[in-house]
Amino acid sequence: KDMVKFGHAETVRDMLEYIGYEVEIFDEVEPDPSIPTIEKGGEVAREFKPDWLIGLGGGSCLDAAKAVWIKYVHPDISLGSIDPFSRYNLREKAHYMAIPTTSGTGAESTWAIVLTDPVLGRKWGIACRESIADVAVIDPRFPMSMPKKLTAGSGLDVLAHSFGGYVSRWRNDFSEGLCIQGIRMGIEYLPKAYKNPDDMEAREKMHNAATVAGLGFGNSQATLEHSIGHAVGAVHHLHHGLAVGIALPYTIQFYANAREKETRELYAKLARILGIEFKDEEDAVDKIVGKLRSLMDEIEAPKSYGETGIKEEDWKRGRENIIEFAYYDPCFYVTPRIPSKDELGRIIDCCWEGRDVTF
Ligand SMILES: [Fe+2]
Repeated sequence: KDMVKFGHAETVRDMLEYIGYEVEIFDEVEPDPSIPTIEKGGEVAREFKPDWLIGLGGGSCLDAAKAVWIKYVHPDISLGSIDPFSRYNLREKAHYMAIPTTSGTGAESTWAIVLTDPVLGRKWGIACRESIADVAVIDPRFPMSMPKKLTAGSGLDVLAHSFGGYVSRWRNDFSEGLCIQGIRMGIEYLPKAYKNPDDMEAREKMHNAATVAGLGFGNSQATLEHSIGHAVGAVHHLHHGLAVGIALPYTIQFYANAREKETRELYAKLARILGIEFKDEEDAVDKIVGKLRSLMDEIEAPKSYGETGIKEEDWKRGRENIIEFAYYDPCFYVTPRIPSKDELGRIIDCCWEGRDVTF
C-alpha cells in the first residue's frame, strides 16, 4: 500500500503503459507477508494472466511477488513443499522483475522467500532456485523516501548479510569478494545516508551495497545472526534489519571464541582489508565488533534487544520460542560455529542484556 501512497506504483505503471503493457496492481502485501496474502495474490494473477510479475517495494513485497509467481504457475502447490532441488518451470508461464525500494534485503538478487504463518506465528523460509529475478532495477531514487529508522534498519541488514555470508560454512571465492565489498560500502556509506537522507551518493552506494551483499550471501547464506533475528522478529515483530543487526556483534564474538582459529583468521583478514590496525587475531575481532558498535551509535540503533522497547515480561515469555525457532532456522546449519541449544539460549540472553559473549 505504501508503494501506491508514495507514488512508486504509479511511476512504474505509467512507464509500462507508455510502452504498451497492460498493468494490474496488487497492493495487499503486508510487512512479513502471510500465506493467505500469497494465496490471494495467486488468485489475482491467475485471473489477470500476466507475462511478467514485478515485485516493487521492500523485501516483503519482493518475496511476496516470488511466492505469488509460484502460486500463479502451480495453483495447487503447497508452499511448504517447495524445495531448492525440484524444477517448477516458472518461466514457461511468466518472468519476474524486482524493483527494490529499500536498501537492505537483497531480495532482488537471492532466491530465498520469507513468509509468515499466521496460525503458528512463525517465519518460514522457502528456497526455490527458479525464483531469482530475471531483471533487477536498482534505482536509488526509490529509497530516497525511506524514513531514517528504515534507512538504519535496512542498512544493518546489508551488514548482517555481508558479515554472515563472509564467514558462512558455504563461503567460497565468489561470495567472499562480494561480502567484503558489502561490508566496506555499508561501513562507509550507511552513517552518511542516515545523517543526510538527501545525500544522493550515499543513497546510491547503499542501494548498490544491498544488491552486492545479496549476491554475496545469496551464494553462501547468512548465518546465526539471521537465525536469531528471524526468531526475535517472529515473536516480537521487530524490524528484520534491526533484529539481525542487533544480533550480529554477539554472533561474531561467539564464532571468534571457537577453539579452532579459522573464523578468527577470517576476521583478521577482513580487518586488514578495512585498514584496521590490530595486535593479534583476538584484537582484530574486538576492533571489528567495536567498529560495528560505534556505527550503530552513529545511526542511533539499539545495541541490545533490551533497548528496543520489548517489555521484560514479554521477552521472558517468548524466550523459549525464540530459542526453538532459531535452532530450526535454515541459516543455523551454515553457521561457522554451531551452538548447542544451551549455548544458543545464552547468546540470546547476551543479545537481550547487551553483554559480551565470552564463551
Ligand atoms: Fe536479512
